[in-house]
Amino acid sequence: MSYDTFQLHVMMLRDRVRTEAFARAIQALVKPGDRVLDFGCGTGVLSVFAERAGAAHVYALERSRMLGAARRVFAANSCTRIEPIAGDGATVELPGPVDVIVSEWMGHFVFAEALMFEPLLRLRDTYLRPGGRMIPARCTFHATLVTDPTPFEELACLRARPYGIDFAEVAEAPLFQSHMIAFRRDQLMPQSVQIGALEMHSVRCLPDAMRGTIECDADRLTYGLCGWFAAELGAQDPPLSTGPFDPPTCWVQLFFPFERPLPVRAGEPATLEISVLSHPQRYHYAWSARVGREERRGDDILLEASLLR
Ligand SMILES: C[S@@+](CC[C@H](N)C(=O)[O-])C[C@H]1O[C@@H](n2cnc3c(N)ncnc32)[C@H](O)[C@@H]1O
Repeated sequence: MSYDTFQLHVMMLRDRVRTEAFARAIQALVKPGDRVLDFGCGTGVLSVFAERAGAAHVYALERSRMLGAARRVFAANSCTRIEPIAGDGATVELPGPVDVIVSEWMGHFVFAEALMFEPLLRLRDTYLRPGGRMIPARCTFHATLVTDPTPFEELACLRARPYGIDFAEVAEAPLFQSHMIAFRRDQLMPQSVQIGALEMHSVRCLPDAMRGTIECDADRLTYGLCGWFAAELGAQDPPLSTGPFDPPTCWVQLFFPFERPLPVRAGEPATLEISVLSHPQRYHYAWSARVGREERRGDDILLEASLLR
């Protein structure tokens, strides 16, 4: 799906949990007189919030054709202090430094499909004044175990020779990919753990293996990891959480399946690990869970390198 068309933008704007959290943060953190960069302005919504918060000047940077729509939004809302800039965050040269960078740059589980992370760090290092503010200021990563077999069974369906066709060559492949799913809380172990964090004012590279331990609640089988993130936008508000135990957002969660179920027992610690690995076109994941001597691992790198060439 492309940012050149309205489908994704309407979905994001309809997500009030997301958009209102940004509105509150911008209102709290942008001070009258600030110069602001809105990196990836899309329809321009965050730029309008920034001007309304009193920004002296807002650079609305966007590389897709949606900048045309943003220009119309700015005009219709009598925004006179927003400067639309057509360009790519990886290479663009801005007219000057800024006090605040606001960007809704996070993909599913932050990194899925989102290639805005490295351009964002470049813009921060080049244009953010010392002591300037990043919105969001911090992203945290969270995980738990999936206890409902349904998502696993759906992905393993090719094992059963559907339509009388032998899919054996590829039947395991869907279990080595992450999948977007909106989980219900009753599909998951109730405990979750923070496995990592990105400090947006100082982060220099992707997190190494992100890891945490939860105590299993019952004797049962588990079928994969559920991962999500929360964005601390920098205001006093609670973080904008995209988790299964919070109000739903357009980010839903990522399911990192196991190849076969992992048995756990009540009171046992389970160590959950997710690694993010960069790649020229997209990010890849490797994941694992260990309980006692049993371990399950998944990895979408080999899959792409071999099967989907
Ligand atoms: C998740 S959308 C957010 C849109 C808008 N800020 C909002 O909150 O509704 C990210 C936007 O960033 C733009 N974008 C992605 N990478 C970019 C880049 N390297 N340079 C400029 N814009 C980029 C996309 O085209 C898209 O419009």
